[in-house]
Amino acid sequence: MVPWRATDDGFVGQDVLDWYRRFAEGRPGAIVVEATGIRDVPSGPLLRIGDDRFVDGLRRLVDVVRQGSGGETRLFIQLIDFLAIRRRPEPEKFFERFLVVRDGHRRALSDTLSDSRWNIAPESDVRAMLSTLAPAALESVLDARELESLRRGHRERVTDEHLPHIRDLPRMLPELFASAAQRAERAGFDGVELHYAHAYTMASFLSALNTRADGYGGPRESRVRLPLEVFRAVRGAVSGDCVVGCRFLADEVIAGGNRVEDAAWFGVEFARAGMDFLSLSKGGKFEDAREPKVGQAAYPYTGPSGHECMPTVRSDARGPFGRNLPLARSVRRAVRDAGFATPVVASGGINGFAVAEDALERGDADIVAAARQSLADPDWFQKILLGRGEEIRRCKLTNYCEALDQMHKQVTCQLWDRSGVGDVGTPGVPMSRDGRRRLVAPEWRP
Ligand SMILES: Cc1cc2nc3c(=O)[nH]c(=O)nc-3n(C[C@H](O)[C@H](O)[C@H](O)COP(=O)(O)O)c2cc1C
Ligand code: SF4
Repeated sequence: MVPWRATDDGFVGQDVLDWYRRFAEGRPGAIVVEATGIRDVPSGPLLRIGDDRFVDGLRRLVDVVRQGSGGETRLFIQLIDFLAIRRRPEPEKFFERFLVVRDGHRRALSDTLSDSRWNIAPESDVRAMLSTLAPAALESVLDARELESLRRGHRERVTDEHLPHIRDLPRMLPELFASAAQRAERAGFDGVELHYAHAYTMASFLSALNTRADGYGGPRESRVRLPLEVFRAVRGAVSGDCVVGCRFLADEVIAGGNRVEDAAWFGVEFARAGMDFLSLSKGGKFEDAREPKVGQAAYPYTGPSGHECMPTVRSDARGPFGRNLPLARSVRRAVRDAGFATPVVASGGINGFAVAEDALERGDADIVAAARQSLADPDWFQKILLGRGEEIRRCKLTNYCEALDQMHKQVTCQLWDRSGVGDVGTPGVPMSRDGRRRLVAPEWRP
């Protein structure tokens, strides 16, 4: 879970150490450290692992988790690659600077305005005229991609093969992931989780919307090619003791996207390739995200697919609890039917003992994962083990934490601040930058 705690240049600092120590104290079976960037490029306060200089900090993170959990918690790190996305521009700026003026715009203007002089108009006049057009008229002049850039901010896609750095992704990514995995192993992690889910590069290769024409898009066999090449490069770069699995989508929840049948097929291929675990998520895509305000970037958890990724109490009749379990069950069944015993991890609305235990008993999954419930109460497993379940702070599934993530603010839980233990204002309790929220969950001693 990205908590926006890394330093501005992507290093582990004290806030990151405090964050993971607190989760380790709950002694979960495993922690997967937040999505960590594999490239050596600035990406704000997101953790990075794209160069050897990040290894020392990550080793300190491993150490605090070993200490905090008494060595009981296995520790993985999630490796991510993502493409560029710009903020939604001021319309004036978009027409002045970003739009690449084409003859098609001139032709469309001359048709729309019934004036053939626009066919030969200078670029500056075309820009000026476009910036005065009403939204409906713009729709007949700009193409779909340009309209998207105007209304949502420009977003690169894996299908932008005309751009050299996008065309080269299949050549670049295996090595980038492999080097990152090697650093993770050197830092002491037990393994890595390859991020093949949500709105990011590798999920976009798997997506049914991937129409690349270079053998890495189109049918499933081609879409899975790069994810398998990345896996093989990673597997070959780390020792046999290092666990390598991936997180991918059991359903993309967008028009024309992958459904559970695709996920089951990919799951079998990943298992056949030798992945150590398959972790399933759902949705979380840019394609159906809400239009951001001017100056903000689109956030992939704001549309229907976002809701399926982090289901809330504002749900349909099925409700948010264990909402994604039937999908995990289908993928697991396909993997088992193909003769593989690869463990399957399920997540999404798992926030209590009964939901988790029933999922395991029914065979929906081999391992249950809980993001928000563990944020709300990092000790919830211990409390169950000790028969003190009534002390658990139950996640409200209202996504206050996700709203903080969307604003790139330090992620905290609304249940921490008035828990009765070291409430806001108590001397010595670390506070968020805005001074209003606890930065780590309240202490709990068994
Ligand atoms: C604040 C926040 C940050 C998240 N960061 C990540 C992340 O870095 N990688 C990831 O795969 N999922 C991330 N997720 C999604 C969760 O892993 C999980 O799939 C989702 O919250 C649904 O599970 P839950 O009901 O147990 O919370 C994040 C969720 C939240 C609320
Ligand atoms: S902020 Fe809300 S949704 Fe997030 S973990 Fe806390 S209770 Fe759950």
